Amino acid sequence: MSFVENHEIVQNGDTVILFLGHNSMQTVKMVSGKVHQTKFGAFPHDRIIGKRFGSKVFSKNNRGYVYLLYPSPELWTVTLPHRTQILYTTDISLITLELDLKPGSVVVESGTGSGSISHAFVRTIMPTGHLHTFDFHQQRADQAKLDFESHGIGKFVTGACKDVLADGFGLKNVADAVFLDLPKPWVAIPHAKEALKASGGRVCSFSPCIEQVQRTCEQLRKSGFCEIKTLECLCKTYDVRTVPLPEAKFSKPKPFHGKVARDGETKIEVPEDEVETLPDEKLEETSNCNVINEDFTKAAGSLKRPHPDSTNEERNPHVKLQKPGNLNTLTARPIKEIPGHTGYLTFASLLPVFKGL
Ligand SMILES: C[S@@+](CC[C@H](N)C(=O)[O-])C[C@H]1O[C@@H](n2cnc3c(N)ncnc32)[C@H](O)[C@@H]1O
Repeated sequence: MSFVENHEIVQNGDTVILFLGHNSMQTVKMVSGKVHQTKFGAFPHDRIIGKRFGSKVFSKNNRGYVYLLYPSPELWTVTLPHRTQILYTTDISLITLELDLKPGSVVVESGTGSGSISHAFVRTIMPTGHLHTFDFHQQRADQAKLDFESHGIGKFVTGACKDVLADGFGLKNVADAVFLDLPKPWVAIPHAKEALKASGGRVCSFSPCIEQVQRTCEQLRKSGFCEIKTLECLCKTYDVRTVPLPEAKFSKPKPFHGKVARDGETKIEVPEDEVETLPDEKLEETSNCNVINEDFTKAAGSLKRPHPDSTNEERNPHVKLQKPGNLNTLTARPIKEIPGHTGYLTFASLLPVFKGL
């Protein structure tokens, strides 16, 4: 069993994610004869082994149930035992994209930490790529190796215990990408340069503080990296709810006679009687504008609005109206404050011409 091969039925030795609720999931390795305790009661592993992934299984005393989920890097990230701060899927997705990772990529990473992003790297670069991951903390490096083996991805990862700031990675011209999540990443930039392939590659450094970013950028520039940019990845959540609002009146937009300026947006009105006299090229622009208007009208007409005669009760019986004439309306509003600064992601490229300099 592994995070990288699929099968339908839970087998002895499989890693299974038990879903107790949206904020409550547990990773359990199936061992015939063992019993797993939860707030819903006991789940003998033999009750789970032989069931299909996705199925619902009740506890021994029927006090509750869990769903059996197939393990994935995303689920591992939300269930793993934290030995360090970890990277979450929002940042991981941007890192994977910006590092241009794909099957066959060779990645160098430090520190390994709890192995959260390592699992995602492996899923992306397998079956022909490889991950070299380093941590100077012996127990963390050892535990990560055990996890990789236990999850069936050991053959795609080489883990080592090493102080990469002091000693470098000990790798030359092998990596397509280097990922740094450790204090003082700027010290590791020359080592990252050494590890990247002669054909160049990408580097990413994750740092919580802007001062760290500043020093890293300075070192990246000194070392000949280009395309340096720092991004912060935040999720903008929309609050979706039904609220009573005055009914919106949609009217057909007035046909637009004119042309669109070079910026593609600004519309220049032309008096209706002058449209006739416009040269061919401008006439084309005029008719395009009308096409846009027609499309808009059609789109507005096809919007699935509630039936005009539907009562507020039918629309949403739970929302009470405060003002006469209001209608319950489904709205989506971005939340005002976006929580969740984790860190800044600094990306850069090394071009082959600068590799030897
Ligand atoms: C925040 S954790 C990394 C978490 C990891 N990215 C994850 O997603 O699970 C930082 C790790 O860097 C390691 N570290 C710090 N300095 C190091 C160094 N000089 N060489 C190697 N590892 C180092 C720490 O031991 C720690 O485990």
